[in-house]
Amino acid sequence: MAGCPVMGGGAAYVPGMMSVLHAPHGVAAAGARQPLEAPPPPRRADPVGGALVRGGAGVEPHVDAALSVLPAVSERSSASIRSAREPLYYGDYLQLDKLTTAQAPVSARCGDLQHDEMLFITIHQTYEIWFKQVLYELDSVRAIFTDLKIGANEIATALHRLQRIVEILKILVDQIRVLETMTPQQFLNFRDYLFPASGFQSYQFRLIEIKLGVQRDAVQQERFMSALSAEHRALVEAALQEPSLFDYVERWLRNMPFREFRGYNFMESYKITTNRMLELDRTAIEAQFFGKECESMITELQKNERMFRSVYDREVHEELRAQGLRRFGFRATCSALFIMLYEEEPMLHLPARLLRSLIDIDDAVNQWRYRHTQMVHKMIGTKVGTGGSLGFSYLRSTVDNLKVFTDLSNMSTLLIPSRLLPSLPAMIRDQCKFFHSVEPYDRTLFELGGGGDTLLDWSFC
Ligand code: HEM
Repeated sequence: MAGCPVMGGGAAYVPGMMSVLHAPHGVAAAGARQPLEAPPPPRRADPVGGALVRGGAGVEPHVDAALSVLPAVSERSSASIRSAREPLYYGDYLQLDKLTTAQAPVSARCGDLQHDEMLFITIHQTYEIWFKQVLYELDSVRAIFTDLKIGANEIATALHRLQRIVEILKILVDQIRVLETMTPQQFLNFRDYLFPASGFQSYQFRLIEIKLGVQRDAVQQERFMSALSAEHRALVEAALQEPSLFDYVERWLRNMPFREFRGYNFMESYKITTNRMLELDRTAIEAQFFGKECESMITELQKNERMFRSVYDREVHEELRAQGLRRFGFRATCSALFIMLYEEEPMLHLPARLLRSLIDIDDAVNQWRYRHTQMVHKMIGTKVGTGGSLGFSYLRSTVDNLKVFTDLSNMSTLLIPSRLLPSLPAMIRDQCKFFHSVEPYDRTLFELGGGGDTLLDWSFC
């Protein structure tokens, strides 16, 4: 196993490695994330996430030696790969010796084995392994967004990985059910042995939060930082200096073309359309309702009008931002809305799905917070946590309050029905279009065994 080039022996992934490989935007000032206007980093990370770079400085010598036996990657046949390395054994490859000997109930060490502690350990370890995978995917997506120019292929890759994160998070939520097969009494039987360890000290969970772009207040941040070991604190502090996924997505949206494009102005056309829509709504309300009811309906309508105005009136947007009701900047908000409104344009399919996957991630993390909080209440009621927090009431305060992409999920307010949506100018539609030319269908090609490849010429303009 050692030195296996295919498996990258010695090239284990360490969460936070992206910071080492990218040092994305220069040396960080303490306490502040790096602004994203700075030039992109000199080199992109390895597309699989930045940490499994092989053959460069820092790669162990035995890996290089094994690599030299193999031809260039594009020249490798299955046989050459198989013969160039030692035969691989399942248990070695997965390092099962390490994995299956890492469950050591502390109650047993204290001569009081509590059967259910094993489940407690296994569940936590499983979580941490999934956290590691989430970080791996998250780092790779952030690496994609370090480029200032991001093509459709890269968006597709990022989307694919974000969707994978969503699926993992769903499993993490579901897994709570397994833990809930343990009764509160069974938990209490070994809880005292755990003090003062707590999930509060999960540095990987903090890294996920930070890398997504969760913003905690200074008091909370100080509290979880002081609960971490020096080594883990250093990793978390490094992550705090890097742009989060939120920052990258914001920059990507901010720089999107089409919002204002050769005489076309999205904000202007949105203003005309929403004003017309509001007029129609007002007429309908005044025709249907009277007195106080009518007044309150009109007040609601005016609130919505303010929301619509925030798309074309920067001042209103900034007011909402100052009130903490918006996080994206003005331009990024307009772009996100443009993508969502015109997502049926082929070129906007992927960006729209990407935005939706960010909402899904937010939802899934929030679901986890909610289910974990519920489960904690079932297990320990309102007792304080082993990590020293208020327990249930602290956890409950995190539900719904630490979402990252609320601007995107709140965007439904700003949507307008497709029938009222102004058509895009032909020039922009053409820019947004995939088209394919299909030659007349010729059955004989299929009957002769052709795959039909020649029938389709996909072009991207
Ligand atoms: C019987 C099961 C569990 C109980 C009673 C429990 C209890 C708690 C409590 C009371 C807290 C608040 C911090 C504190 O003062 O300790 C907390 C935080 C936390 N727990 Fe659990 N927990 C359980 C299972 C889990 C599992 C399976 C995970 C998976 C990794 C987990 C991960 C976390 C994380 C990441 C936090 C920090 C949350 C935040 O700060 O927003 N917990 N837990």
